Amino acid sequence: MTQYLVSDALPLTQAVEAVAFFVPENGSLAKIEPSLQKDYFPNLEKLLKDKKFTGGSGQTFVLPCSVGKKIVHLLFIGIGNPPSRKASADKEKETKDAALETYRSAYAQVVRLCQTHKLSSVAYALPAAKDLGIDDIKNGQLFSLMSEMAQYKFDQFLTKKDDQLQPLEKMIAVVDKKAIAETKTGIKQGEIIAQAVNRTRLWVDLPANIMTPIEFAKLIKDLGKEHALKVTVFEEPAIEKMGMGGLKAVGMGSQYDCQLVIAQYDCKKKNAPTIALVGKGITFDSGGINLKPTGYLETMKEDMAGAAAVMNALMVIAQFKPNVNVVAIAAVAENMLSGSANRPGDIITFYNGKTAVVGNTDAEGRLVLADALAYTSKHFKPDAMVDVATLTGACSHAVGPFFSGLFTQDEALAKKMNSAAHTSGDALWRLPLIDEYKVMVKSDLADLCNDGKTKYYAGATNGACFLSNFVGDTPWVHLDIAPSAFDVPDKPYFRPNSATGVATRLLIDFVMEWK
Ligand code: BES
Ligand code: MN
Ligand code: ZN
Repeated sequence: MTQYLVSDALPLTQAVEAVAFFVPENGSLAKIEPSLQKDYFPNLEKLLKDKKFTGGSGQTFVLPCSVGKKIVHLLFIGIGNPPSRKASADKEKETKDAALETYRSAYAQVVRLCQTHKLSSVAYALPAAKDLGIDDIKNGQLFSLMSEMAQYKFDQFLTKKDDQLQPLEKMIAVVDKKAIAETKTGIKQGEIIAQAVNRTRLWVDLPANIMTPIEFAKLIKDLGKEHALKVTVFEEPAIEKMGMGGLKAVGMGSQYDCQLVIAQYDCKKKNAPTIALVGKGITFDSGGINLKPTGYLETMKEDMAGAAAVMNALMVIAQFKPNVNVVAIAAVAENMLSGSANRPGDIITFYNGKTAVVGNTDAEGRLVLADALAYTSKHFKPDAMVDVATLTGACSHAVGPFFSGLFTQDEALAKKMNSAAHTSGDALWRLPLIDEYKVMVKSDLADLCNDGKTKYYAGATNGACFLSNFVGDTPWVHLDIAPSAFDVPDKPYFRPNSATGVATRLLIDFVMEWK
């Protein structure tokens, strides 16, 4: 892993192979780093202009230079237009949000440039925390977190590794002397968060022949031991006995038994609130008897991304130790087709006694979550319950890859979630969940049907409406991460054809900010 250091000395005086500068669109270098032109390279601004580097967002320019007796690579990274200072209060928040995201990408760009140019150490000045609307701890977090996310790779099955992806040895954040201590604290936190995000990505990237329901349960048992968490695993016979007809039905076609995995962090404080995080853990979604066509099957190992996110967020929470109890529940199964698979038309009974017709075996996520949500509200009576699921393709069509869908009828929770989305970088877009739409999951044959009525269109809302029947009075949020869990383009901290770890950062901030 990279060594992260903090210093208040000029980046160019550090013992590193590269120094990075973040340049706003048509911004003057003198403002960014006065000594750069004055003491080192008098014609630098003209050179950048001649080379058409204007500081536009995403532009980069690399310049090997001799500084004293050594060679240093100067890395210029365009960050576009900086947030306007004159904006109105609302606009201000919006522009700050954009500024944060700009720097998330810029930090990742630095890592990418170092990797392509085989530079193993780099220093740069962090933007002032107050200009980003955050504190120095969060500023330090962002530095190590984004640098680690940018270095994620899934190469364990390549017998010949890509040497473009070597880890950096050393990164130095240059900050104001007064901010050194807090930046260091933030960096440590960022490393812990990054480990969890990158582990979510690894679990999602692992193919379904390796990441089976059994393997998932085993990983949580092992990690639970490491972090002194209570872990309970219910296997298929127990699931059937408890009356969890949804989880049972979905797992029935697979050679692997379905699992309900529960991990608990206990803060050991009297009267502490409890937050429950529930994840969809379909290790492979073939669609079942309603088989998915070619083109839709290939990435369906990603269908356990919600379960991976809730569990890995919990591992961070266990290390940060907030004064709230947190329980993470994963409903894990493989949705396959075989002689023992569930069929379209089957009627199943859930843990809370409600019944549903399986209109479509490919709408399996809501079936496994129904039991998990009903179980969680009954046994843990949480103050808030959040489910995270790659639930619908419809949600991807609605919001595109840079958002996850947010559904709730609880305004206070919506506010808390949106705030965590802002600070974490896991962006959310709220979609409708209202009583009027709940008729679309009603059936004549049973209480509910899992594929809804198509005349209402809203496919992502349809899924949320189905789930709303299993939460009782528990304050509840549903997050549809189908859009954002895998293969998100354009972001230098993600990789093509690979998992994003979405919702891991979000849930950590959501819990840590709980009041
Ligand atoms: N796992 C899929 C949703 C999905 C699609 C996740 C693409 C990630 C990327 C889910 O189980 C599913 O198949 N949903 C169906 C629901 C429909 C049958 C009501 C869908 O979205 O088509
Ligand atoms: Mn499906
Ligand atoms: Zn699915």
